[in-house]
Amino acid sequence: MNWVASQTADDKLLQQELCALGKMPEHIAIIMDGNGRWAEERSLTRTQGHREGINSVRDIVESASLLGVKHLTLYAFSMENWRRPRMEVTVLMDLLLHYLRSELDELHKNNVRLQAIGKINALPKNVQKQLFECMETMKNNAGLTLTLALSYSARWDIVRAVQMASLDVRRGKLSPEDITEERFATYLQTHATPDPDLLIRTSGEMRLSNFLLWELAYSELYVTDKNWPDFRRNDLYEAVANYLGRERRFGKTSQQIIDEKSDAPETNSLKRMLNALRS
Ligand code: FPP
Repeated sequence: MNWVASQTADDKLLQQELCALGKMPEHIAIIMDGNGRWAEERSLTRTQGHREGINSVRDIVESASLLGVKHLTLYAFSMENWRRPRMEVTVLMDLLLHYLRSELDELHKNNVRLQAIGKINALPKNVQKQLFECMETMKNNAGLTLTLALSYSARWDIVRAVQMASLDVRRGKLSPEDITEERFATYLQTHATPDPDLLIRTSGEMRLSNFLLWELAYSELYVTDKNWPDFRRNDLYEAVANYLGRERRFGKTSQQIIDEKSDAPETNSLKRMLNALRS
């Protein structure tokens, strides 16, 4: 399916209104949480919750791509998630494998590039194989870059970066006084991706859960009570509209930002947009 050709008129209109509010975030990162609770509320199994979560993944990837977002990072499996019951881990790995197999063509046709961060060699061999095959197929695509965080831990990545920088110091390739924030960030797995502008977390928890701890330093945070399987494109638009209404100061004063800013979204238009999404 070609996403542009199959976009509904209503969705196109909503996206146009959203784009008129200001500059789209270049990078959105999402902590997809609440699959289990969604299932429990409906007396379904956790597996059914994760399965429905995949439908949200599909809808969010497609709508983010249509919106012109350049980078989308999804926290699909944390290093801590290995502690879940073996059956659930198996189900999650099977779903991931199924997603990669069944979506490859569609993602590729729609110009999506796939990346992965995390301890990838901890994943089952068949998942690794499929993942590398997908990344290889899509490596030259220039549309949305979709990064899956798999067996990921931000602290692990930071420690790994320290180890690699230390090795370079030992080999004489780097001197300690040259380690700036920018230089250090080149050792992180996320080095080729700009820091997230917006972090969305579903299911109401106010935690970062070891996700992109370095990269989220100046990101705008948006937490919604909706569980991940209920989070669909209109919820993404609401989060982006909310983000566009924020003032990102990066340590400066509000007046400095007002003086610098020429493309501030109109408050009324933003309010109208949010009301339209809620109705
Ligand atoms: C959190 O819900 C979700 C996860 C641990 C996994 C997310 C995985 C998917 C949406 C499916 C596979 C992903 C891809 C990219 C194909 P939870 O189980 O922690 O929910 P709970 O906190 O309500 O128990």
